[in-house]
Order: sequence, then C-alpha cells, then structure tokens
Amino acid sequence: MERTLAIIKPDGVARGIIGEVIQRLESNKLKITAMKMVKMNQEQAKGFYAVHEERPFFDSLTYFMSSGPIVVMVLEGENAIAKYREIMGATDYRQADEGTIRKDFATDIEKNVVHGSDSPETAVIEIAYFFNRFELIH
Ligand code: CMP
Repeated sequence: MERTLAIIKPDGVARGIIGEVIQRLESNKLKITAMKMVKMNQEQAKGFYAVHEERPFFDSLTYFMSSGPIVVMVLEGENAIAKYREIMGATDYRQADEGTIRKDFATDIEKNVVHGSDSPETAVIEIAYFFNRFELIH
C-alpha cells in the first residue's frame, strides 16, 4: 500500500467540483484516509512549494494557492502515487489524456484543479505538511 497527498486547488473548490474529483478517486479504488479543507496564506503556500522557489511561476502559483480554500487529502492504495497521477492527467491540461481531471476541468497550466505528490519521498514530506499523526487513519 502506498500513500500520496492530493489537493483540490482553489479553482476546483470555487467551481464546485469537489464531489466530482472525489468520485473519480473512489471509483479508482483510491481510499481517502485523511481529509480537510484549509485556507493557506502565501507564506504557507511558499513553504509547501519550496522546491519550485527558483521557478518563474513561484509567486503567481503561491498567490493562487492562497487565494481560497483547498481540500487536502491522503489517498491510500496500490501504486497510489502513479495511479492518482494518471487520473489527474498532465500538469499542462493541453497535454493531458482524455478523461483525466485536468483535461476535463483545468483552464490554465497554473489553475489545474488538483495537485498530487510525485514520489514516495515527496509524499511523506507533503503529507506531514498538512496532517499530524493523529489525523492519519490506518
Ligand atoms: P502542481 O502539480 O501543483 O505542481 C506545481 C504547480 O505549478 C503546477 O501544478 C501548476 O499549478 C503550477 N505551474 C504554473 N506554471 C507552470 C509551468 N510552466 N510548469 C509547471 N507547473 C506550473
């Protein structure tokens, strides 16, 4: 069993597609083992995306990620990281496969509805950023 961090970004929450995203996760056998809605400030968003600090889109991305509430979840399942990345589709929605969340809902490379951890190491760090050990259901 593998764990990954999933985020429904401010654009997804604002557009009322939390249920649609969760439906796709559950129907693909990704089990939600922790979940909450939070609103980050820009400093907190900068901490979360620290690996992208040098990228030209860092300020814009962290401004966007702190612009409204987000839903953060821990997903668990076999190959959860790769499976969830497949369901999300490519970062750039124009390159995402048909039937993926980003292909169906993203409007912009930045406002791409969802985030997912890209490796087991990143997943551990990202999960710990939002959830303490009492909030993780086993
Ligand atoms: P995410 O998977 O959350 O990881 C980094 C985020 O940066 C990405 O999704 C997008 O929301 C955002 N982003 C904005 N511009 C770019 C870009 N040119 N390349 C990659 N990510 C970008």
